[in-house]
Amino acid sequence: MITGDKIVYLEERLEEFPKFPLSLVPTPCHRLNSLSETYGTEIYCKRDDLTGFGLGGNKSRKLELLIGEALENGCDTVVTSGGIQSNFCRLTAAAGAAAGMSVSLVLGGKRPVKPTGNLVLDNLLGAQIRYVDSPDWNDWETESEALSRELTEQGQRVFRIPIGGSVPVGVVGYITAFLEILNDEKRLGVTFNQIIHASGSGGTQAGLVVGKDMTGWKGLINGISVAMYREELEEKVFKLAHETAGILGGNVTRESVLVEDGFIGPGYSIPTAEGEKAIEVLARREGIFLDRVYTGKAASALLNWLEQGKLSGQRILFLHTGGHPELFA
Ligand SMILES: Cc1ncc(COP(=O)(O)O)c(C=O)c1O
Repeated sequence: MITGDKIVYLEERLEEFPKFPLSLVPTPCHRLNSLSETYGTEIYCKRDDLTGFGLGGNKSRKLELLIGEALENGCDTVVTSGGIQSNFCRLTAAAGAAAGMSVSLVLGGKRPVKPTGNLVLDNLLGAQIRYVDSPDWNDWETESEALSRELTEQGQRVFRIPIGGSVPVGVVGYITAFLEILNDEKRLGVTFNQIIHASGSGGTQAGLVVGKDMTGWKGLINGISVAMYREELEEKVFKLAHETAGILGGNVTRESVLVEDGFIGPGYSIPTAEGEKAIEVLARREGIFLDRVYTGKAASALLNWLEQGKLSGQRILFLHTGGHPELFA
């Protein structure tokens, strides 16, 4: 059962982490009227696409803690890696610049002839970019480690962030988001049965799971995978959540980690017809913009389950994690 004591305990522990504030929070949370009427199911949206900083998205919540730690450690340089259209890299470039740090990005893929989408913003933000021509996340990490060593040898104090910022300090950002959702429930006078969101490197989901288990919230958290198969991502999310909860003096259960992998399509960042359809539906019906890599695929799961009546009688929260600059790629 949720008790005020558990929430206060968690809030106090989260306060102990150094933070470089970036996000404009709380983000809005509202009913999706048109979709709710069509499907006869109560559907709400938590607008983490509107976290405000650097065009918004889930990663600004992680980055305020990661940059907070980097500054606390006296670092002057941030290195991270991701796909060419990585939202995390765009937001790292913005956060590092705002903190007066130099930012180097390792981007997976060939240097494009003409930058588009997030890459335009990476350049505008002044990030140094190194390309690694591979679709394999491990190759990006290896190159990011190599670049960190090179910069360290040149005398820079490097803070290296793994893909997506999915390490315990980053995960803490999504425990805070979870507590915000509990406040949204109170303000709106509702209880959500299920949170549905895009899950990539697993940090967002791990934070929500820690929040759920450490407060005793009863709803389900359903991560819609955009890259890994269910077993691999569930294992990763559980490990991260377990480690983060341990740091906070709490624990999580394996049963709280639920991943759906039926909407990835041919692979990470490869658009699906269902995802494109979902992007169109949310734009035309609700004036909400999604992206093809993450939120479009998560919304395709939501619409599929609504159409099949799998969510009837429930109150659903779709967590919009951002990513719309990718629409211009
Ligand atoms: C728009 C968007 N949604 C969801 C995610 C997935 O978040 P996580 O990597 O924490 O699972 C990302 C990650 O880059 C993202 O950019």
